[in-house]
Amino acid sequence: MNVYDAQRMADLLAPEGYADTAQVEDADLVVLNTCHIRERAAEKIFSELGKLRALKAARAKAGRDTRIIVAGCVAQAEGGEIFRRQKAVDIVVGPQSYHRLPELLRRAETERGLVETDFPAEDKFDFLVAPTPQQIRKRGVSAFVTVQEGCDKFCSFCVVPYTRGAESSRPVGDILAEVAVLAAAGVREVTLLGQNVNAYHGADGAGGSASLAELCARIAEAPGIARVRYTTSHPGDMTADLIAAHRDQASLMPFLHLPVQSGSDRILAAMNRKHKSADYVDLVAEIRQARSDIALSSDFIVGFPGESEQDFEATLDLIERIGFASAFSFKYSPRPGTPGADLKDQVEESVKSARLSRLQALLERQRQAFNRGMVGRTVDVLFEKPGRHAGQIAGKSPYLQAVQVDGETDRIGEILPVQIVAAGANSLFGRLTPGHAARGAPI
Ligand code: 5AD
Ligand code: SF4
Repeated sequence: MNVYDAQRMADLLAPEGYADTAQVEDADLVVLNTCHIRERAAEKIFSELGKLRALKAARAKAGRDTRIIVAGCVAQAEGGEIFRRQKAVDIVVGPQSYHRLPELLRRAETERGLVETDFPAEDKFDFLVAPTPQQIRKRGVSAFVTVQEGCDKFCSFCVVPYTRGAESSRPVGDILAEVAVLAAAGVREVTLLGQNVNAYHGADGAGGSASLAELCARIAEAPGIARVRYTTSHPGDMTADLIAAHRDQASLMPFLHLPVQSGSDRILAAMNRKHKSADYVDLVAEIRQARSDIALSSDFIVGFPGESEQDFEATLDLIERIGFASAFSFKYSPRPGTPGADLKDQVEESVKSARLSRLQALLERQRQAFNRGMVGRTVDVLFEKPGRHAGQIAGKSPYLQAVQVDGETDRIGEILPVQIVAAGANSLFGRLTPGHAARGAPI
């Protein structure tokens, strides 16, 4: 979502005369769009700001001004504290207020220490500026669209409900209008974003609300849009109609990121996840019944307060039972203001590290096995960019795997069947099937 937000900020600033620079040294304005989800992400900002302060001073000597903005969830969480830690910062703006950037930049001409972290009455989406077709093409044939923001789930480890605020859904009509602009410029794939995206229930324009499944179906009607994905989902909001959509909607890609976090019921309860390990197993069985080839991905946290060796092993067991195509995994990071941070029995850092290594080794084995299982199969690939070597192009399989083939760059934007011939550590290698290898060849 930070990628999407950064693009919207760039679009808002373009009419103000700002364009992207390749080198930070050339930037009159630097916006750090920040993440507060774990301590490490948040702390990185301050080391980055230290470097920017030196840059600002060097540019000032050459008679050039530099404005520094801290945006995103660290801005939201820390507000004016950021100025105390780093005086070179000009503006602090939270994720719900970035539509005010042009106005804030004007005010910064005369005012110092501007902080905008209220949850404003107006909806930022109503103030966004559409990207130009050139800008869309530069960003590629696969695009993000935020459809839902915030979260009401309050998992006890998570800052999102505090930094992104209460759960809210954008109206269907607004989303379709945004997708139409993207599709007209050549976008073929849309990934719908939300912190709790499957809780989506946006106004449908007829006095009711649409579910995520309904939204996906409407988006797929946009000319040119061939693939729809969504992320991130909570198991508790995997409704029957969304599961059925994976059976019925050909454009909905058979890859689902469905975080479980832990395999221990005791820890899941302490995390306030509201699902048990067996619920997750049953849910996955139901989803696989609807779409047998669906690939799953998840998020895991190890070392949540009170996690015993037995709890951790329950997580490994769950992973063995499900079989994941890919996953993200993290050591628990106590976040200020969340209930988890106040719990006794915080797990020692060395224990967390050892558990994370074991967990990641298992997940990596599953990922490699999944990738190797593709060899010999033919899958549709959406080509997105030139490949690593001249004469190659790269794209994504339905399961979000990177695929490289020999091919011309004018095939970028096309979805073509590819026979997978080898699986590397991070990419699959394939060949365009006869008839698709060359333009105009007989099928
Ligand atoms: N510590 C570690 N990981 C966390 N996540 C969220 N909060 C924390 C935390 N305090 C992870 C969860 C979530 C993903 C986006 O980040 O696994 O699904
Ligand atoms: Fe955070 Fe996701 Fe839980 Fe919401 S559902 S509180 S975003 S982990």
